Amino acid sequence: MASVKSVALLSLSLLSQASAVKLLALNFAGQFYSLDLAFQSSTKASLKVVQNITACGVTPTWLHLDEETRTVYCIDESWLNEGLGSGNLSQWSVGPDFSKKDALTLTGSTDTEGNSVHGFTYGGPDGRSFIITSEYSPSTITTYKLPITSSTKALQKIEFTMAAPGPRPDRQDRPHPHSAFTDPTGDFLIVPDLGADLTRIFKINQKTGELTACPAIASLPGDGPRHGLFRKAGRALKYYSLNEVSSSVGVYDVTYPDHSYGSNESCLSLKLTQTLSNYGPNVPLGNVTVKSAEIRTVGNFLYASNRNDTTFGFEQDSIAIFKIGTDGKLQFQELTNAHGYYPRSFSFNEAGTYAAIAGQTTANIAIVKRDAKTGKLGPLVTNLVLPPRGTYGGEDGVSNVIWVE
Ligand SMILES: *[C@@H]1O[C@H](CO)[C@@H](O)[C@H](O)[C@H]1NC(C)=O
Ligand SMILES: *[C@@H]1O[C@H](CO)[C@@H](O)[C@H](O)[C@H]1NC(C)=O
Ligand SMILES: *[C@@H]1O[C@H](CO)[C@@H](O)[C@H](O)[C@H]1NC(C)=O
Ligand SMILES: *[C@@H]1O[C@H](CO)[C@@H](O)[C@H](O)[C@H]1NC(C)=O
Ligand SMILES: *[C@@H]1O[C@H](CO)[C@@H](O)[C@H](O)[C@H]1NC(C)=O
Repeated sequence: MASVKSVALLSLSLLSQASAVKLLALNFAGQFYSLDLAFQSSTKASLKVVQNITACGVTPTWLHLDEETRTVYCIDESWLNEGLGSGNLSQWSVGPDFSKKDALTLTGSTDTEGNSVHGFTYGGPDGRSFIITSEYSPSTITTYKLPITSSTKALQKIEFTMAAPGPRPDRQDRPHPHSAFTDPTGDFLIVPDLGADLTRIFKINQKTGELTACPAIASLPGDGPRHGLFRKAGRALKYYSLNEVSSSVGVYDVTYPDHSYGSNESCLSLKLTQTLSNYGPNVPLGNVTVKSAEIRTVGNFLYASNRNDTTFGFEQDSIAIFKIGTDGKLQFQELTNAHGYYPRSFSFNEAGTYAAIAGQTTANIAIVKRDAKTGKLGPLVTNLVLPPRGTYGGEDGVSNVIWVE
């Protein structure tokens, strides 16, 4: 029989494991980091590198975590056409004890045609039987069956075209699908296309993972949609689009098929109802020197990161905070300090009490507190630089940060 003392020790160690907070981050230079976040108080913490692995291809850009199976997929942006070597898609298992240097284990990888900027799992009986990636310059989305093995080949590849460049020809020279993710039912995939000013929609065949195009939804000309998310507002469902080129958020009503109409009766549809600048109500959309990047919601607040606005001083960009009304409409609140330059990625912990913000060019992870009542961010709790630093306007520096809890 276990002694009282050993039971007490065991529960103590379980407690410290359970309360340990971990993060994963990527540097475009090919570094995959696991990080250990330890709190001394609610406003003071230390962030340390546990693992620093040279992995995920030449230009790793995005991490997708399947929380239930603790599998993380690493997406690589490199591309033969840019002389960087073919792309890489890798699959990692996340061990239970993250303080160990072997917590991250490679469980599969394959080379790809490259230039993927995002990945997301979907479909099948478990909702995680396939993965879709979005290729920025080749203008494609590509699907793969999971798990990834060295013999994995693309299942389906869909290439987009458009007749003429968009209103911002420097950014909108051709279609640029920037992400692909499921709606709340898991029956559809949403694909924001920055180049074509479209939110593309696909119906999923759950058995085969095959995608069928639904009618695409136009954004405002020059919006350049990049990422998006769904959120419930009362009994209604809203879709929020992060528009990179116009630095704004678009709010859309969501309609599901009611099976009573003729054509495309089986498709989800979106209707734009509101567009707000990430810089406040009186700021015109589409400032050419800035570009927004990421969108997140926690509670009744929506957050959108802004790159290259240096609102808070030298290499200090901003995050816009919006309040979400009970009807799902947005109201601009304020800009808050991102504590880094080019905040390409940021995410919240599960409790919504802290944000991790990845300054791309400054190659830093800033941890800031979040006030649940006001939605405000700050103060800065800790900051860690993950070398190497990026160059101005370059596809380098820290590309992604996520929490693993
Ligand atoms: C892809 O990345 C994995 C994980 O870093 C690596 O083991 C593998 O060799 C890479 N594959 C190619 C073709 O570069
Ligand atoms: C929906 O309509 C488009 C044309 O707008 C067509 O190409 C597509 O096959 C239809 N999709 C479905 C699921 O019926
Ligand atoms: C564009 O944004 C930059 C950075 O915030 C600012 O300095 C400039 O005044 C803005 N230009 C316009 C036309 O709004
Ligand atoms: C991680 O490894 C890379 C490559 O060796 C190196 O450049 C970088 O400084 C390391 N990061 C840290 C935090 O030590
Ligand atoms: C950042 O903004 C400045 C003006 O504030 C502009 O000169 C520069 O081209 C912009 N850089 C990038 C990479 O967008």
